[in-house]
Amino acid sequence: MKNNNVIGIDVSEASIKALQLDIEGTTVAYESVKLTSGIVKNGNIVDENSFVNALDELFSKMGLIDVDDDGVKYGVALCLPESKIFSHFCVLPDNIKDSDSEAFVLQKAEKIIPFKLDNLYWNFHTSEEDGIKRATFISVRKDDLDVFVKAFATAKVELAFVGGELFALGQSLLQEPPLKSDCMILDIGAYTTTIGLFSIDAVPNASIVIKEGGEHFTRHLVEKLGLTYGEAESQKRHYGLDTSNQETEVPQMLREYMGPFVDKIREARNFFENITRHPIEQIVIAGGSALLPKMDSFISERMETNVSIADPMKKLKGYELPDKEVPSVLQSVVIGLALVKDYEVFSNLNFLKKIKRVDFSEMSKDIISASGAHSLSGLFHKIKHKLRPADLRVYCMYLTKKFPGVNFKLISTMVLLLMAIGFLIFTVSKYF
Ligand SMILES: Nc1ncnc2c1ncn2[C@@H]1O[C@H](COP(=O)(O)OP(=O)(O)OP(=O)(O)O)[C@@H](O)[C@H]1O
Ligand SMILES: [Mg+2]
Repeated sequence: MKNNNVIGIDVSEASIKALQLDIEGTTVAYESVKLTSGIVKNGNIVDENSFVNALDELFSKMGLIDVDDDGVKYGVALCLPESKIFSHFCVLPDNIKDSDSEAFVLQKAEKIIPFKLDNLYWNFHTSEEDGIKRATFISVRKDDLDVFVKAFATAKVELAFVGGELFALGQSLLQEPPLKSDCMILDIGAYTTTIGLFSIDAVPNASIVIKEGGEHFTRHLVEKLGLTYGEAESQKRHYGLDTSNQETEVPQMLREYMGPFVDKIREARNFFENITRHPIEQIVIAGGSALLPKMDSFISERMETNVSIADPMKKLKGYELPDKEVPSVLQSVVIGLALVKDYEVFSNLNFLKKIKRVDFSEMSKDIISASGAHSLSGLFHKIKHKLRPADLRVYCMYLTKKFPGVNFKLISTMVLLLMAIGFLIFTVSKYF
């Protein structure tokens, strides 16, 4: 397995996608599982049991995974939505010593970030461009990340890296660093747009989240043109901002809405350029709303900058997409995570650096308790709904821990065998 990269995991409200590439960029394994509504909401795991079950299903579908002696799957990279991340970008004083950078960055960040540092997992990274030293503080609320770490641990998956979505987009959509100039990635999703500002090292330096996205574009058409939601969504996707469809009024209405929207993106660019004194010469648009017809040329005209649509395929061997059914733009995040050959290189962008490694041998009881599997009512609930071999293994582990010396694996196998024989005798007796 040495020729394979870490497994990238992209969690959204609708699905969990997992991708493993080899070091050349060929897909080794790709799977996804659908999540029913309410399991993940606004970047939070709401229903932990269902989330863990989905992870179990995903990893059993993946098959080719590195597993250690305790059955723990390892080498997995996850990213969190940018809206969960609090970052602060600054320029370091010319004469600052490397050893003083951390204190300087923390002092600056503390004034801006709306939480106490004790309640955050934080990290920071620095870069240098034309002699100017830049630093980016990144943080996530402990409560937000702990839920993910616990859910993955419950599914016996050890996370190697947790970063932000923009980090993953930088990996899949930007060229190998050093880039020719600073650039911007716009992730225009359903409810939010993330403006990511990157320096020539191709990792996010600053990010700004606007609470607007494709859903708002659709709602604007509903309101202004009196369309149903379904009609508005389909006309938005069909006509977009393309003025050759002017008779439909859709492009005009969308352009009207997008004017102030692009102004906010321009403000973000000005803010960044004022600090760095370097122009942003390239914009890449990602997220589902990047597929809006003529979105790229509209933003390019208004921002007077080159704009291209996200194309993660360029980084894949033979341009083979992991999932042929899904537009390539929507696979940018999982591809970006899976492209990384060595996450040590990005240890300063890893939120897990500040989390004690999970001790799985000590944790097995907690894991079981967290999954709710140890109570008898939990067992009956599972039998009623669908008991899977993976669950049986967990119950055996729990009972073995509770009553050491008793071989519950053997006992449960015998019980199942007796039940099968009993069922066979019962069926045969019905015939004679
Ligand atoms: N072909 C298309 N043309 C135009 N818009 C599209 C197209 N396909 C999807 N979209 C829009 O993309 C949006 C969803 O994008 P995406 O999947 O990136 O969002 P998300 O990541 O789930 O949301 P968020 O980032 O806000 O949490 C929807 O508003 C949808 O209407
Ligand atoms: Mg998104």
